[in-house]
Amino acid sequence: MDVISVIRTKRDRGELSPEQIDWVIDAYTRGEVADEQMSALAMAILLNGMNRTEIARWTAAMIASGERMNFDALSRPTADKHSTGGVGDKITLPLAPLVAACGAAVPQLSGRGLGHTGGTLDKLESIPGWRALLSNEEMLHVLDTTGAVICAAGDGLAPADKKLYALRDVTGTVEAIPLIASSIMSKKIAEGTGSLVLDVKAGTGAFMKNIEDARELASTMVALGTDSGVRTVALLTDMSTPLGLTAGNALEVRESVEVLAGGGPADVVELTLALAREMLDAAGLKDADPARALADGSAMDVWRRMISAQGGDPDAALPVARERQVVTAPASGVLTRLDAYDVGIAAWRLGAGRARKEDPVQAGAGVELHAKPGDTVTEGQPLLTLHTDTPEKFDYALKSLESSYDIAPAGTAFTPSPIVLDR
Ligand code: URA
Repeated sequence: MDVISVIRTKRDRGELSPEQIDWVIDAYTRGEVADEQMSALAMAILLNGMNRTEIARWTAAMIASGERMNFDALSRPTADKHSTGGVGDKITLPLAPLVAACGAAVPQLSGRGLGHTGGTLDKLESIPGWRALLSNEEMLHVLDTTGAVICAAGDGLAPADKKLYALRDVTGTVEAIPLIASSIMSKKIAEGTGSLVLDVKAGTGAFMKNIEDARELASTMVALGTDSGVRTVALLTDMSTPLGLTAGNALEVRESVEVLAGGGPADVVELTLALAREMLDAAGLKDADPARALADGSAMDVWRRMISAQGGDPDAALPVARERQVVTAPASGVLTRLDAYDVGIAAWRLGAGRARKEDPVQAGAGVELHAKPGDTVTEGQPLLTLHTDTPEKFDYALKSLESSYDIAPAGTAFTPSPIVLDR
């Protein structure tokens, strides 16, 4: 097999054969196919697509590039969730302990943020002492003893994806539905969860800007999971407005703890409960009541045990940024739009995110929202508070917020978008 013929097949809109796919993934993982050749193939896939048979084989080849985990020894059914990423998307933090409190085991392999979207591991690392890197044995131990674990995927899981994702990130080939679907699902299937709920986001702050693309991504992933024996469900959810009232690492941990304490913003609570119900259903725990587990403190108990088991101190004060700047409302009226992408970019510029994979993030940086679409605001009232340790970044962050919101005259009718757009 030679790589140039594989690239030419896809460049000329042909169908890759199973042998071509198996060979190219294996040869790339071993270093026989060079980065520049794989980037040409990834671009050909982005431009010309892959059919469902090709995507299934591509996913299987990425799974076969590494190890598969197995949770059969656990006494509880496993349930996992994956979000395609957004702004203020801290849902994994309250969700994993909540679903564990209702009887499932939640093995949540998570990632770091890149660009305008935040990463679950970066958020949790703002808790003093907390460790994202666990051995497979440690991960199983935390899962078995607390019911939930949130950690980084080990190097052994789908190594082909690790290499390919880093390459796509620097070659403008992230936004290809076949590559996103196979990347996410290879890791989830290799992880060995029995059921999986996908939170596929649509809107300005998501990878998929419109609902049609989100639907296509969701149905591709559901088919991949189902065909591999994983009970898989997808919710399409809105990402045109940031979730909750915070975007940033420690800021989002604080808000998640509020949800676990029975409070927190209504949209975060609604989405957490909707995803929890789907996960519990998929895991065969239909009678569990996640709303009660939030109200009676049992989800908070699992959170505290899970954070402690990974070296964190659930009672420690969270880091706070050194400097703040408030953006005030320029007029009175009804806030009708607050753009997720613009807020995500501002949080990123303030230091909550990274420009390159190896960059550090600031734990305290980010954006706090004082109003959400539908709220009435008064001229001069705080609309947003920017947090950073590097105040020289304020002007740069403010630029991304210049046209991030609309305020309509008082009394203007406003219909909020539902959080869950479809199932
Ligand atoms: N998340 C992944 O794991 N892979 C992608 O390709 C996109 C988002």
